[in-house]
Amino acid sequence: MARLAIAGSTGSIGTQALEVVDAVDGRFEVVALGAARSADELSAQAQRYRPGLVGVADSATAAALDVPAGTEVAVGDEVPEAMASVADVMLNAVVGYAGLPFTLAALTAGRRLALANKESLVAGGDLVRRARIEGGGEILPVDSEHAALHQCLAGLPAGSVSRLLLTASGGPFRGRQAADLASVTRAEALNHPTWDMGPKVTIDSSTLMNKGLEVIEAHELFDLDFDVIDVVVHPQSIVHSMVESIDGSVLAQMSMPDMRLPIGYALGHPQRLDVAYGRIDWSALSALTFEEPDRETFACLDLAYAAGRSGGTAPAWLNAANEVAVGAFLTEQIMWPGIAEVVAAAMDQWDGAKADSLDDLAEADAAGRRAASATVDRLGAA
Ligand SMILES: NC(=O)c1ccc[n+]([C@@H]2O[C@H](COP(=O)([O-])OP(=O)(O)OC[C@H]3O[C@@H](n4cnc5c(N)ncnc54)[C@H](OP(=O)(O)O)[C@@H]3O)[C@@H](O)[C@H]2O)c1
Repeated sequence: MARLAIAGSTGSIGTQALEVVDAVDGRFEVVALGAARSADELSAQAQRYRPGLVGVADSATAAALDVPAGTEVAVGDEVPEAMASVADVMLNAVVGYAGLPFTLAALTAGRRLALANKESLVAGGDLVRRARIEGGGEILPVDSEHAALHQCLAGLPAGSVSRLLLTASGGPFRGRQAADLASVTRAEALNHPTWDMGPKVTIDSSTLMNKGLEVIEAHELFDLDFDVIDVVVHPQSIVHSMVESIDGSVLAQMSMPDMRLPIGYALGHPQRLDVAYGRIDWSALSALTFEEPDRETFACLDLAYAAGRSGGTAPAWLNAANEVAVGAFLTEQIMWPGIAEVVAAAMDQWDGAKADSLDDLAEADAAGRRAASATVDRLGAA
């Protein structure tokens, strides 16, 4: 039985992971659960799964927990290492840059990291790579696209990949023009056509920043140049991504959209879990369509490519600016087109710094946030 720690257990990915654990009874022992401030939900999970450890972001949340006697409670900066120390597999389902310490702790401790938190890989690039090499841990992607690529790449000999094709649903605003999108509401942007996800990644899907972050994630995970990583819009979200081989053959991985499938793939690899999620009813499937992304209306996609190609702290800066911009949109300080505007303005101020240490990243994250906040203030005042 593998010992499983779930960071971000109260979120969309975290709760679906617990459904997978329930479905394959006896395969995983939940040894640690963690969240930021959802004390009630985390307490209910702890009562049910009886992990030896729970982690929360601050002491006020810790004081509000109602966990079984004897459960150790870790708080703040000590949580990532504490969770990694008791687990064989750590699922990082935290949202945003806050996930970076969990990624680093799992890899440094030599664990399997089932990675949903793409922001840590985007921002942390070289540092994450170093932690993986030095600690001896491994990353299994949970993002459905990268789980698909991981499966397709397993079918090809080294050196035979000519292109990765990341599929994108296109989000709720696919087909709309910039002029149409000036006044879309928060509710419209949160209404994703094919996936039911947490708010941040749902807004990222509406701007195609999610796909941009995934392009950088694919570059980091599979060590391939940005020139061979393409994006194709596939509104049905059934083909989760594809790999083209040098002989022209294309391998695809397919299922109905259901995150429990890639979660289970990452947790169980190399075995397959014997519970099927997202099974396709071929009698009901009428069409799979593909189209080019609209890079002008959804400018975030190319902002991410540019940051990825720049390297250094540019992806961390981009990610920080985007987190500020998405937060500002969700709190109705800026309109939807303002998200790309905020990120573009922040990237214009990127200082070209290298990402050699955690301090470099923390500085880039803070500076990216400051630059973005200034544009949010300007747009909000206009
Ligand atoms: N949802 C999907 O279908 C999906 C698909 C692909 C990839 N992803 C990626 O998976 C990650 C999680 O997404 P989600 O949709 O599950 O997000 P979510 O529903 O918003 O959940 C986020 C989780 O992270 C926790 N958290 C936030 N800040 C934290 C901190 N500082 N320390 C510890 N825990 C913290 C939250 O705890 P509280 O409840 O206490 O706030 C919650 O458990 C994101 O990186 C996203 O891009 C998600």
